[in-house]
Amino acid sequence: MSARPLKLGIAGIGRAFSFMIPTFRDDPRVTIVAGFDPREEARSRFMQDFGAPAFASMEELCASDVDAIYIASPHQFHAPQVAMAAAHGKHVLVEKPMALSLADCQAMIDVTRKAGVHLIVGHSHSFDAPIRKMAELVSSGAYGTLRMITAMNFTDFMFRPRRPEELDTAQGGGVIYNQAPHQVEMIRLIAGGRVKSVRAMAGVWDAHRPTEGAYNAFLTFENDVSATMTYSGYAHFDSDEWLDWTNELGLKKDPKNYGTARKAILASGNLAEESALKNARNYGGSAYADLSDLNARQHQTFGFMLASCERGDLRAFGDGVRIYGDAAQEFLALDPPKVPRSEVTDELVAAVFDNVAPLHSGEWSLATMEVCLALLQSAREGREITLQHQVGLP
Ligand SMILES: NC(=O)c1ccc[n+]([C@@H]2O[C@H](COP(=O)([O-])OP(=O)(O)OC[C@H]3O[C@@H](n4cnc5c(N)ncnc54)[C@H](O)[C@@H]3O)[C@@H](O)[C@H]2O)c1
Repeated sequence: MSARPLKLGIAGIGRAFSFMIPTFRDDPRVTIVAGFDPREEARSRFMQDFGAPAFASMEELCASDVDAIYIASPHQFHAPQVAMAAAHGKHVLVEKPMALSLADCQAMIDVTRKAGVHLIVGHSHSFDAPIRKMAELVSSGAYGTLRMITAMNFTDFMFRPRRPEELDTAQGGGVIYNQAPHQVEMIRLIAGGRVKSVRAMAGVWDAHRPTEGAYNAFLTFENDVSATMTYSGYAHFDSDEWLDWTNELGLKKDPKNYGTARKAILASGNLAEESALKNARNYGGSAYADLSDLNARQHQTFGFMLASCERGDLRAFGDGVRIYGDAAQEFLALDPPKVPRSEVTDELVAAVFDNVAPLHSGEWSLATMEVCLALLQSAREGREITLQHQVGLP
């Protein structure tokens, strides 16, 4: 461990940041020293919670004494804010999706490389310990050659309160920009990274929420692995049922709360009201519910994940990996997380203090975005798309 904690600045003190609070606050390797957000209520709560300045401009944050900046602003700001952080010599952790276009992703890679700072994209669920363990077991060869991956997630994503741009695909709305990066990252990590082609269909099933809320995709890999990837954000079936009712954050879920997200949105009436509801529930807002002290007993999850090898199927759960072998099944339990998403800090600290190249690098993440954009293109054009910017595991 380094002699001092990493000094972290936060750009975008909103919903994504609220998920990362325990990750940074409860890990002695990191200290939150400054923030930036245009919302006054977010700034004032941040100053109270962290005893650190919260600025109203990115320039002030970049000029402050931070080693790295976690950029958790809405997607459209990722590329310009990465450029500004890099110009000030700050390392960057930027939220997924990396950016809305491959050109922006490439610009982010170029600008950080030129400045000699590290670029990490995350959190995504490929950081989760059970997924890492599955990747490790597959690459050990103990279960023979990997042949197929099956990923399925059924959630209420489409009925969570949204900003207008989150319901507009052209501005990065919908499940392909927002949820597919998780599934693509998990699958690429287990299969080795290099996707060859994508065929997908996507659906806009709710006229009031005019962006893709569901998809089915078929991926082929250069090493002859194939994967199917299914996502529905329309909140009927909930695939957390298959994870013993553990939710995305690794917390227990009460199945009796069926359909609450959909009911709340239908009650809210129009998009302006919905944006106000999102803001009220956001960090610093009047209805903000601080989840950061809830003690997750399990790792984070992202639906059903199965890797099929010639001599066994491996399946991810919040508390470990179930192995269905030739002769028997066994459960490989993982220690519960001390700090949620601490794998992100592992990568960030190693990069900043020890110059270790991150797994979730710009190049790796550009390749993930290429797959997501191919999903959209395939769904629109009704054909298989061949990929060109794929990279393998470092
Ligand atoms: N990895 C995850 O689990 C996860 C979860 C949620 C969101 N995200 C990602 O995080 C990003 C933010 O999403 P969110 O749901 O937190 O959105 P949000 O609406 O909560 O916005 C984030 C914050 O950014 C602020 N903001 C607005 N304009 C800004 C600007 N120009 N510069 C800096 N901050 C600005 C907002 O006031 C808000 O506080 C998105 O890219 C999203 O995909 C990731």
